[in-house]
Amino acid sequence: MDAYKLLITGGTPLVGETYVSGGKNTSVAVIPAALLSDEPCTLENLPDIEDVRVLAEILEGLGAKVHYDAVARRMTLDPRGVNTCRVPYKQSQRMRASYYLLGALLGRCGQAEVGYPGGCSIGARPVDQHLKAFRALGAEVEERGAIITAKGRMVGTAVFFDRITVGGTINAMLAAAKAEGTTVLYNVAREPHVVDLANFLNSMGCRVKGAGTDIIRITGAQHLHGSTYTVIPDQIETGTLMIAAAATRGDVVIRGCIPTHMEALTAKLLEMGVAVSDMDDAIRVRTVRGHRAVNVKTQEYPGFPTDLQQPMSALLTRASGDSVVIETIFESRFKHLTEMQRMGAHVRILDQTAIIEGVSELYGAPVTATDLRAGAALVIAGLMATGTTEIYEPGYIERGYEHIEEKLRSLGAKIWREPLEAR
Ligand code: EPZ
Repeated sequence: MDAYKLLITGGTPLVGETYVSGGKNTSVAVIPAALLSDEPCTLENLPDIEDVRVLAEILEGLGAKVHYDAVARRMTLDPRGVNTCRVPYKQSQRMRASYYLLGALLGRCGQAEVGYPGGCSIGARPVDQHLKAFRALGAEVEERGAIITAKGRMVGTAVFFDRITVGGTINAMLAAAKAEGTTVLYNVAREPHVVDLANFLNSMGCRVKGAGTDIIRITGAQHLHGSTYTVIPDQIETGTLMIAAAATRGDVVIRGCIPTHMEALTAKLLEMGVAVSDMDDAIRVRTVRGHRAVNVKTQEYPGFPTDLQQPMSALLTRASGDSVVIETIFESRFKHLTEMQRMGAHVRILDQTAIIEGVSELYGAPVTATDLRAGAALVIAGLMATGTTEIYEPGYIERGYEHIEEKLRSLGAKIWREPLEAR
């Protein structure tokens, strides 16, 4: 239970300029990848969020020398001191991306022992495809209790993923980066952070081709040299800020983003009647008319991202008409809608489909965040609502959004935190 709650008094349009931080999901892949290097690496533009801090601790526990300057958003990593391939279970449980240590340690030293990952409870989230890739590359993999052990010299091969998986794609890339020979990964994820990881690996001397398409070819390199690398901006934070601007009928310029990463969301917002204009590294979101209801179906990139389904659902609660939201990626990613019903949202949920009937007003209420993006959705609902919303368990939000309260406050939002009354 978090020791504080987040409060939002809604009704104020967000106006002004803000900026996007470095990507959470790219950072949690690039940081473990630095273990593959034989020399120190410097990573720039890392967001100052819980997941990055936890990873720094895990790498230090492995023996790497890590210096993380949260203000400068810079992490220097020297993996030469790594003296174990075991990540304690309780450390693995602290985040989803701890499973990338499996691929990175297998790639670095041919063995790894990592506990099952933690992460948002949005579905079963098995890792069978990750293990399939490791076995294909030559590892013996055992799952005993909640611990995964993998051991073997990585040898290039072909891997055909049974379903598109971001984590599975990234983990296979990490394990194959120093494999003997060439690895071809088929039916892979094409998310921007898969491309970012490929660029980082190539900056260390690896030869990764095809990232961003559905086939990735990796020619393993025996030695990878150090690199200074800047991670891409966060696509999901960009989208969350765009949706918050539209939801409050404001006028916001979001700087430091990559508009081409946002096309699926931009298209949906334009369809709703929201004015979105792309600039080189910025996007402006304004509301010039009422919002039409639209249908949203989540898909792997470049489709509509599942991580924006929850914030988008909040926006749709006040569109005029009925919107249909189909969540195809995770089997349990509608919990935020149940919380929004307490704020007056009219929602019907049937398996992976939610029908959101637009209402003219939401009302502030006490609600609870159940995962990272559900928390973001509740913030957006609070910004739209009449009166004050109290969000419990806001710690989830901190995991993936850097300084989100300050950013929203700088745009005029009435958002603050209060300690929980002693029970
Ligand atoms: C990553 O999760 C992200 N997390 C998620 O973001 C994101 O929602 C997801 O990719 C999809 O884009 C990180 O990058 C840390 P998947 P991941 O493997 O890798 C099934 C956020 O809010 N699957 O692409 O776990 C799986 O159950 C988080 O930032 C298997 O069946 O997602 C899911 O239904 C939430 N077997 C689907 O595939 C496997 O071996 C997609 O999962 C792997 C996955």
